[in-house]
Amino acid sequence: MEKLIVNDKSFEIYINESEILERVKGLAHEIALKEAQHKPVFLAVLNGSFMFAADLLKQINFNCEIQFIKASSYSGTTTTGNLNVQFGLNQDLAGRHVILLEDIVDTGTTIVKLKSELEKLNPASIKICTLLFKPERLVEAIKPDYTGFIIENKFVVGYGLDYNGAGRNLRHLYSEAN
Ligand code: IMP
Ligand code: MG
Repeated sequence: MEKLIVNDKSFEIYINESEILERVKGLAHEIALKEAQHKPVFLAVLNGSFMFAADLLKQINFNCEIQFIKASSYSGTTTTGNLNVQFGLNQDLAGRHVILLEDIVDTGTTIVKLKSELEKLNPASIKICTLLFKPERLVEAIKPDYTGFIIENKFVVGYGLDYNGAGRNLRHLYSEAN
């Protein structure tokens, strides 16, 4: 298979764009069935979820709002456990149904910390929607409410996900090649 170099590592296609978009459509449908009546607030977690959020929200036809927050806890290919959250929320989330949009739930550390920060704002509910979920790496007692793909314990880049800042622009998802 064709190899792609990002920084100092070699990657190969893992999930191609059309498979991603097909699954994203399915996710939008699952979400619509359960959340449409709530006028939810989608909170996209930057930077990693920008492509996923855009494609997912284009498939959402019910009344909703969209906000962005920034969280980062990663350096290289391993989690550091330190979470840096920049809210920049210009809206009151009290009493609202919030759906967090994440690129990937790996150890679960980021999403657990984010969730506890958001709980302080007294939303009616907080759900987690993630494009990717690596259950083998999970250390927190948390399960995403909506998952695009359950994946093996592989480092992936593309479709918003980065390796040391690079690769976010790639339209397919790539995994590290052996
Ligand atoms: P967690 O806190 O360990 O769940 O890590 C979540 C964050 O780590 C994600 O939002 C990503 O930014 C990053 N991350 C985890 N696994 C990968 C990966 O395979 N490729 C790129 N980024 C990843
Ligand atoms: Mg990242």
